[in-house]
Amino acid sequence: MHPEWNPQSWRVLTALQQPEYPDASALEQVLCELRRLPPLVTSWEIVDLRGQLAEAAAGQRFVLQAGDCAERFIDCTSARITNTLKVLLQMSLVLVVGAQKPVIRIGRFAGQYAKPRSTAEETRNGVTLPSYRGDIINRPEFTTADREPDPQLLLRGYERSALTLNFVRALVKGGFADLHHPEYFDLDWVENTPIASEYHRMVETIRESLRFTEHVLGVRAGSTDRIDFFTSHEALHLPYEEAQTRRVPRRPGWFNLSTHFPWAGLRTNQPEGAHVEYLRGIENPIGLKVGGSATRETVARWLNTLDPQRAPGRLTLIHRFGAARIADGLPALVEAVRAEGGNVLWICDPMHGNTHITAGGVKTRRFEDIYSEVEQAFDIHRALGRQLGGVHIELTGENVTECTGGANGLREADLERAYESQVDPRLNYGQSLELAFLIARKMKSEAA
Ligand code: PEP
Ligand code: CO
Repeated sequence: MHPEWNPQSWRVLTALQQPEYPDASALEQVLCELRRLPPLVTSWEIVDLRGQLAEAAAGQRFVLQAGDCAERFIDCTSARITNTLKVLLQMSLVLVVGAQKPVIRIGRFAGQYAKPRSTAEETRNGVTLPSYRGDIINRPEFTTADREPDPQLLLRGYERSALTLNFVRALVKGGFADLHHPEYFDLDWVENTPIASEYHRMVETIRESLRFTEHVLGVRAGSTDRIDFFTSHEALHLPYEEAQTRRVPRRPGWFNLSTHFPWAGLRTNQPEGAHVEYLRGIENPIGLKVGGSATRETVARWLNTLDPQRAPGRLTLIHRFGAARIADGLPALVEAVRAEGGNVLWICDPMHGNTHITAGGVKTRRFEDIYSEVEQAFDIHRALGRQLGGVHIELTGENVTECTGGANGLREADLERAYESQVDPRLNYGQSLELAFLIARKMKSEAA
């Protein structure tokens, strides 16, 4: 049905959301260099994740995929990386208690540098410049020079991805295990919620199981050589992704070795589009953001193109409707996938359908909408005889003020205090843990 695939076959199609480089030969030079650099991840890690995602699709594992909306080069620091890892690890321990099954941790990190934008240009005070598209493409400052796409940034992004991943791997292997001890949970925000004692009990359960594994079984949690964290990013910048797409000895097929789990965003998920064409040929497990009104025909084309074998673990559908629309949109999507014989993993992204602009012009999200979308997702999948296999969250380990609500009661007036994101608003440390507690509680009540 499809013509032959190769890492460049997407090039005959129109690729959306690509920067326009002023100097094609400078871009080509950078891509040559990228093709020569060693990979960031290995094929066996990718194959391992694909197997784990297949188990998640069968209900035996739960996925926590989370991190920044867009990583920034300036945040490639020891403290930031440690804090991101800490919040992800703590959330995952809380989710283990709720789900009573292993949690797969996938960071939106070590390469989440390119962003789709709703408009190609931005106008301020009568001046129009290219939109900021992420640190791997251009710079956020509003000047002609900063907004011009610079191919050297692809190399800088690749190097920072390597630095990030190197530190993540070292932390996971070494002393970082200490950070998931309950005494490192910062629970100040908990006192503002009526269910504080329930949260404290969950942390106590974590404390006890860690004590049990460490002292009784003699296994030091975290002291394993196997990578405990997988990486993911939106496979948006196709020349960059192509440059990382390689064959490996003794395994058939092509692997994107810049990340374990690439996904196509909502704006580039067209079944006949260049991004889907690129993704269909690689062996990595892949994600597809879906939302709005996907017809049965679109679903059929996605499945036939990206997962013709209907192989569990191959395709993850990350749905993002918004708390007010998920009840209308998700059931038809699930039915369409079922009717096409799909065997996908379902993940809920409760962030991207819940963004709004305040009267003061600030992009934000309400904690209550975010949790409401996740809660509805559990109920809808369950009512249809399926199950929600994970969540996809934009968060940070820092105490930013980008989303409103939660036990800390952040209001719109608080947003300006510590608003950092150049793109989407993220949950802060307390809000992230609170969300994990609420999801754990929901999963426990489902199991009861
Ligand atoms: C994102 O994940 O940051 C994003 C842009 O999401 P979506 O493609 O779902 O809009
Ligand atoms: Co985002």
